[in-house]
Amino acid sequence: MTLPDLKTIAEHARKDAYSIERIQWHKGVDTSLFYFPEVLTPLFHCPSYSGVLNADERRTYNQLFAQYVSEQFIFLEDRFLCKVVEGLLPWAAGVSFELRSCLEIFLEEEIKHTEMFRRLLKLSNPERYATQDFYFLRLKKHEDNLIKAMAQVPRQLNFWIWVALLFEEKTIDYFSHYRMQQRDNSKASLDTLHYQVHQFHMLDEARHVQIDEHLLKYIFEQSPSFIRSINTFLLRKAMANYTEPKRANILIVEELCAIHPRIRSQVNRLANEVRAQRGQSPYQQAQFSRKNFPKTFSYFDFYSDIGEAMRGVIKTYVPEEERKSA
Ligand SMILES: [Fe+2]
Ligand SMILES: [Fe+2]
Repeated sequence: MTLPDLKTIAEHARKDAYSIERIQWHKGVDTSLFYFPEVLTPLFHCPSYSGVLNADERRTYNQLFAQYVSEQFIFLEDRFLCKVVEGLLPWAAGVSFELRSCLEIFLEEEIKHTEMFRRLLKLSNPERYATQDFYFLRLKKHEDNLIKAMAQVPRQLNFWIWVALLFEEKTIDYFSHYRMQQRDNSKASLDTLHYQVHQFHMLDEARHVQIDEHLLKYIFEQSPSFIRSINTFLLRKAMANYTEPKRANILIVEELCAIHPRIRSQVNRLANEVRAQRGQSPYQQAQFSRKNFPKTFSYFDFYSDIGEAMRGVIKTYVPEEERKSA
């Protein structure tokens, strides 16, 4: 894997910088369209998606799921990564001017992205998001405490670098699915504003992935083995909460059934089908494959302790060595 040096990454960031006013906010969202690539939503892979839901209900589900995705980005970038990376700046300044510059640009860009997703939510559901960023995403107290601890000691509690790598590479995958669905005439059309926001987001995130790769080498790789074991354990716990559809995904289904009285009696069936999209299920295959995560999966291969831990929670991950010999 080729990885540009930090100076080159910072130069590209300055050259490619954009204003979010380039996004066509004035057009608003088109509520007659889907907002998110269908194949990346869990209910799409369930029998009820075509067997129970009608076109209108499928679209509502898709729009609600897109709102959850925007909430996820605001949480990840504003509440989580910005806090942790700010905590890293004093150390980075001592390492190199280039590393500090990259992290400062990273912060600026994440603040910009948060504003993009906040605007998108306000346009998608003005009433709900007028005064709050989160509806489907509800953080537990211990999760909030863990983020605060990471911001205090971001080099010791460093599994956040893996979380950043995974989600930032996911951003690139999201946009490639937007592009694929938009080019496929057999699939539902996607809202232009959602498409644009994810497109602009992806432009910066491709560089953020490169910064994460450097941080793995600077921080994770240098950790003493007991620190590394603790972080491997914590990463596994954190990912287990994300990979299997529960909590927010069940709230989305409940909201869908509250909006459409016709399917209200089906809520448990839909929720159970969504919960069942774990392990090697079609949803997991669509979300977590080597195609979705080429770099992350390669790093799982390279750092085999992390790879082993991730096999427990990302069941679709098989180390490359094992794949070759199978
Ligand atoms: Fe971002
Ligand atoms: Fe990012």
